[in-house]
Amino acid sequence: MTSDTAAPRAGAPFRVWADADCDLSLVRGRKVAVIGYGNQGRAHALNLRDSGVEVVAGVRAGSDKAAQAEADGVRALPTAEAARWADLVALLIPDEAQADVFAADIAPYLGDGDALLFGHGFAVHFGFIAPPPGVDVLLCAPKGPGRWLRANYEQGSGLACIVAAHQDASGTAFDLVLSYAAGIGGGRVGVMQTSFAEECVADLYGEQTVLCGGMVELVRAAWSILVEEGGVAPHMAYYDVVKEVKLIADLMFERGIAQMYEAISDTAEFGAYRTGPRIIGEDAKAAMRAALEDIRTGRFAEDWMEEARAGKPNFHATRAALKSHPIEGPAAALHDALKRD
Ligand SMILES: NC(=O)c1ccc[n+]([C@@H]2O[C@H](COP(=O)([O-])OP(=O)(O)OC[C@H]3O[C@@H](n4cnc5c(N)ncnc54)[C@H](OP(=O)(O)O)[C@@H]3O)[C@@H](O)[C@H]2O)c1
Repeated sequence: MTSDTAAPRAGAPFRVWADADCDLSLVRGRKVAVIGYGNQGRAHALNLRDSGVEVVAGVRAGSDKAAQAEADGVRALPTAEAARWADLVALLIPDEAQADVFAADIAPYLGDGDALLFGHGFAVHFGFIAPPPGVDVLLCAPKGPGRWLRANYEQGSGLACIVAAHQDASGTAFDLVLSYAAGIGGGRVGVMQTSFAEECVADLYGEQTVLCGGMVELVRAAWSILVEEGGVAPHMAYYDVVKEVKLIADLMFERGIAQMYEAISDTAEFGAYRTGPRIIGEDAKAAMRAALEDIRTGRFAEDWMEEARAGKPNFHATRAALKSHPIEGPAAALHDALKRD
């Protein structure tokens, strides 16, 4: 039995696996229970089913997701029954709920030779779930939301996936996770290897410093200053600092940063070189290092689990307060008034 490292290391050598490198028969030979029929779970279940894999959805008692799965043509079972039936369990419910569901409804039915798969390394890497030694512990994280995973698959393409075998009880765990990735459509685009530690730290750091934390604070602060101190109309400012984020993000996504600079005007590029480093200076970098430390030490994970166990009071209060931030006015007005652009 081997496992990937407990702390992030320099990643696995760069290699991309395609469908031709993945043996789809491995996952087709499994009985797969996808636990949770939400953002990721529904897309995994439908793509696997359409790839010829025997799959059921595991849903909690009283969930309306059972009816949705059945309407999609996927058999739905209560979580524990699905886990008992399966020999590959994909745990695709929110990270903060996984430990309790695992202990109550999944662990009792995991036997030697079974496989347990995650969409994010959080619960295992930070020690909230300790799978038994006889099972393969796998990670298959598509790099995007479930609706893209499903829509791209339906169009004959897929989403890039990163995969890891944290615990290789069978000796074939990595081949199995490659096969699973191909089953959800990852091999049509490319599959790359990571570790639970690397995926977990990088994913949380990216979300917090750029995607959902840093970028959103940057946008909100820039909009407020432009409106309150610059005298610019709220909806004009909204275009310049919010909606046009997508245009630049698309260019970076498709071509990289250097090519993005070539696609914008020289005026925009000169301004970027002059002002960008003033905005993201040493203070911002120190805050990024602190965020990395917070994540690597497990402090962030502990705080999040404590907040979740308490019913998420601060989380819900912050969400409610930000809903009435002035920037949401032009967001709603533009959404209602303009044709989709
Ligand atoms: N969202 C993404 O873009 C994304 C991308 C890559 C990886 N991931 C990872 O994929 C995993 C699943 O994330 P997700 O965003 O797909 O989750 P999600 O959409 O929030 O999951 C919803 C599903 O989980 C069930 N669920 C919620 N709380 C539960 C609880 N306490 N007990 C039992 N079932 C519960 C829901 O049941 P009800 O309908 O009954 O509430 C529903 O079936 C996570 O590990 C996440 O980090 C997510």
